[in-house]
Amino acid sequence: MLTNFPTSVTIKEVGPRDGLQNEQAFISTENKISWINQLSLTGLKYIEITSFVNPKWIPALADAVEVAKGIERIPGVTYTALVPNRKGLEQALEANVDEVAVFMSASETHNQKNINKSIENTFPLLKEVVEDSLKAGKSSRGYVSTVFGCPYEGIVDIEKVIRVSETLFEMGIGELSLGDTIGAANPKQVQDVLEALLRRFPANKLALHFHDTRGTALANILVSLDMGITTFDASLGGLGGCPYAPGASGNVATDDLLYMLNSMGITTGLNQEKLMSASRFIQDKVGKPLPSRSLQVCGLNG
Ligand code: HMG
Ligand code: MG
Repeated sequence: MLTNFPTSVTIKEVGPRDGLQNEQAFISTENKISWINQLSLTGLKYIEITSFVNPKWIPALADAVEVAKGIERIPGVTYTALVPNRKGLEQALEANVDEVAVFMSASETHNQKNINKSIENTFPLLKEVVEDSLKAGKSSRGYVSTVFGCPYEGIVDIEKVIRVSETLFEMGIGELSLGDTIGAANPKQVQDVLEALLRRFPANKLALHFHDTRGTALANILVSLDMGITTFDASLGGLGGCPYAPGASGNVATDDLLYMLNSMGITTGLNQEKLMSASRFIQDKVGKPLPSRSLQVCGLNG
């Protein structure tokens, strides 16, 4: 029986990045800025606002610099963005983000498809980005994708996850987010993977990033909570997916995660009403119903 729950949890909102990167409809810069400004007033302490990647690869976030420069910064909120290389870092520093998030995969094929190079050739690029970010006074976060399964290679050997994780920590990242890129994880697998990783890294340096493709994200979070993890990435409305992971759908919905944690008496510091209002705003802008169950219930209740 799971009983070892924490009293508080940090939710990191990745909707403006992971959520919007895969949307067909281009959300205008003005609407992105308005949405992020609303998110800043919900009690969130961490918002991933965009990606400084090649706009040919991710057209939905082609306005990264304008978005980062246009938002209102609330003291106490960390505004972060994905950065794959030196060119991205230059833009991120110009736009003055607070934190730089580097990303790569545990599986070779997904890494190649997502960032166009081998795992081995990715390490020196990310090392440079992490070191220069830290020198510029920014904190640094790392993502490892395909931890629980790769769309091209299937199950990924835990030793590969450990190697990428260790290398990212050696570069100087402050936190590692473990990505279930295609939403394939199940609670037993999460236990096994976390057992292996927690033998090497402290729980407070790890975050979990579950996509909810098959509806297992909340169950996976429950198991992670029981194992001492207190930081989770989520996307408002359940928006999103990885364009280079066929079949991947959105992250666990921030609104549903908040509902579960609130009802368990676990505090997050988030204001549910303001969050739901921001969720309805982005649903309206993407022009289709979002997967969040809380949003559907809200819609029914008016
Ligand atoms: P590349 O083509 O190998 O790059 O792409 P390159 O260095 O050879 O340069 C080629 C061209 O790209 C040049 O332009 C560069 O200037 C340009 P050209 O001379 O041809 O006009 N370029 C850039 N432009 C803007 N910003 C940059 C940049 N870098 C090069 N930073 C690259 C390599 C990494 C850039 C490319 O593969 C890319 O942009 N990939 C982005 C992939 C991506 O964003 N995927 C989704 C995010 S990851 C994710 O969702 C998973 C996660 O959520 C966790 C999980 O769920 O598991 C984090
Ligand atoms: Mg993701």
